[in-house]
Formats: sequence, structure tokens, C-alpha cells
Amino acid sequence: RRYVALLPAAGVGARMAAGCPKQYLTVAGQPMLRHAVEAFRASALISHTYVVVSAADGYIDEVLPAGLAGVTVLRCGGATRMDSVLNGLRAIQREMAESDMVLVHDAARPGLTPTLIARLIDGVGDDAAGGLLALPVVDTVKRSAPSAQGVCSAATIPRNGMWLAQTPQMFSYQLLLRALGRATDPDAITDDASAVELLGLTPRLIEGHPRNLKVTLPADIRIAEMYLAAGE
Ligand code: C5P
Repeated sequence: RRYVALLPAAGVGARMAAGCPKQYLTVAGQPMLRHAVEAFRASALISHTYVVVSAADGYIDEVLPAGLAGVTVLRCGGATRMDSVLNGLRAIQREMAESDMVLVHDAARPGLTPTLIARLIDGVGDDAAGGLLALPVVDTVKRSAPSAQGVCSAATIPRNGMWLAQTPQMFSYQLLLRALGRATDPDAITDDASAVELLGLTPRLIEGHPRNLKVTLPADIRIAEMYLAAGE
């Protein structure tokens, strides 16, 4: 079986409020995106890595020089993450066989390792619904309700059985293409598994690792650097 990686990297990183899209910010001496790409290049299980950037991207040629083995850049990013993944899947259609598996990974998760990639692939096995890395929720989860003072806590959701989704998320190429192609509300599709769930399938949850955090706020860069310095 063949496994390929697809990294949506066409976001602007508004919450980071940096001078460039967050996937290009330096983490431990390298652009964040490069760390994520290197995890896949270092994995013996991955045959190829595709990176989806926006057509106007002015950084990628420096971050991933032409000729980097095992990597193809696709300039077909869309308005939402879901669009970027779907455009990428369509762009590689001719290179993909029915049984090929796609691991979709956020470019903004620089802490991924070949060990975590292998854990996902082993954990999902040949489950037709695919699966994803995720972490059990450790905090108490509240549902908010509007109040005169702002928001208040209206209910506590039992954290038992609650998980935080990470990436990579792995599905067969055909399944993911069908799931994202059918989804009609991009705002409701914040990860790939949610599109697959809408088909009535139940992707497997495989325990990930805190080092695989998504860099969202400026302080997250320091946390990511701490994990990268600690090694695997
Ligand atoms: O914004 P957020 O952190 O959820 O983005 C997750 C990933 O999706 C990032 O790697 C980002 O570059 C990517 N993305 C994309 N196209 C968009 C929006 C986000 O490829 N239009």
C-alpha cells in the first residue's frame, strides 16, 4: 500500500498577526512548514509529500527549493482549509490509485515525527473509515451562553470521551475526495475527519502527542521549540 502526505499551507495565519503567513515563521532555525515536510521525508512509510500553497505565495521557493527529493509543491490553495485540501486532491488525481492512502497534515504543526506518522498508520491499519491523531481532553469543558456581562458558563460537558483532533488525518484517497467533495458548509469542516463523519463513517482516534501542537498564537512558537529541542 502507498501512503502520501498532503500539507495544506495556503492560510494567512491571521491569529498570529505576524509579517508573513505563520507556516513560514522560523521555529528552531527553520520555517515551520519545513519541519513538517522533513518529518514526512524522514519516514520510510511515506512515498511522496505534496504541499498546497496559494497561487500568489512568494516564500515557498526558498523554503522548499526545487528538486527537493520526494516533494511536490501545488499552487492551488483555496479560500478555506477544506478548499485547499480538495484542490490538492484534485490536482494529484492522475498520480493516485484507488487504494492509496493520504495523510493530511497542517503545515503549522512542526512537532510531527516519523514515530507519530508510524503510530497513525499502524493504528488505523486497514480500517476503511481511516483515522487521525488526537489527544484526550484534560481540562473541564464548558458550554457558554450569552449574558448581560458578556458570556457565562451554562453547562459542563463531561470530558470523558472528548478528544482534541490533531493531524495527520489519514483516509483512502477516494474516500477523502468523496467526503470533501460532498461537504457543503466549509465552516463546519474544520478538519478532514469531520467531512468523513458526515458520510456516516467513524474514523479511528489514535493517541497523538502534545509536541504535535498547532502553532496558532505567538507563544506557541516557544512551546514548539521546546519540544523540538527535546528530540523524539
Ligand atoms: O488556520 P488554521 O491554523 O486552522 O490552518 C490550518 C492549516 O490549514 C494551515 O497549515 C494553513 O496554512 C492551512 N490553510 C490552507 N488554506 C486556507 C486556510 C488554511 O491551506 N485557506
